Amino acid sequence: MRRPLVAGNWKMNGTRASVAELVSGLRKQSLPEQVDVVVFPGFLHADQVLTSIRSLDLSVGVGVQDCSPDPDCGARTGEISAHQIADLGCAWVLVGHSERRTFWSESDEVLTQKCRAAQQAGLKIVFCVGETLEQRESGISLAVVEQQLKAVLPLLDAHETVVIAYEPIWAIGTGLTAQPNQVQEIHAGIRAWLARCLGAGSATVKNMRILYGGSVKAANACELFAMPDVDGGLIGGASLSADEFGAICRAA
Ligand code: G3H
Repeated sequence: MRRPLVAGNWKMNGTRASVAELVSGLRKQSLPEQVDVVVFPGFLHADQVLTSIRSLDLSVGVGVQDCSPDPDCGARTGEISAHQIADLGCAWVLVGHSERRTFWSESDEVLTQKCRAAQQAGLKIVFCVGETLEQRESGISLAVVEQQLKAVLPLLDAHETVVIAYEPIWAIGTGLTAQPNQVQEIHAGIRAWLARCLGAGSATVKNMRILYGGSVKAANACELFAMPDVDGGLIGGASLSADEFGAICRAA
């Protein structure tokens, strides 16, 4: 039985005051014990969030939204290494989000380096994949996702420390949520592809958690999370409201 995970990607949002309010709002939620809950604040707020979560004794993991592909610290102005992230106390990092693939042209090669650096530093990874609307309309959604996963396949065979997030780009921040059957089809396809690549007996095939992301809200979370291969969600906009995020966690 895979343990559900609900992650909130706060993206480039928040001030010190609003982040403090959001974390204290999470304390008022009854977050379910049988669900892993993780939040991904921006780098600037990660330390504040870690400190507040510890002082409030919340069972919520903390990660950041990116890391440098370079494994070592050194002359990389503006970058933050996976080791520095781990040293801060974060346990998680997002890699491969479509916004980074699109706006920063992150290639499969760079994403592989980021995953490797994160694993070397002992961070857990949420690795994001997903197709554009044009690709969906051309009927190549699963092929696109498989190609994105193939790039990091050797690093994926680690289901305890890697989670896959399927996020169709056309559903991110648009209010256009994928239908539960569309999501299930891709998630089952990913699991079948893992079985072909790693062998059906691989523990990763059965245990890899696959999250869905793209306009998840409290109102649609139950039907999405009810799908057999949907193990939780990666939540953007709705994670900025503690009440909404709490309700999504309870739906998982
Ligand atoms: O990382 C989260 C996803 O990009 C989903 O964002 O829930 O605002 O559509 P959204």
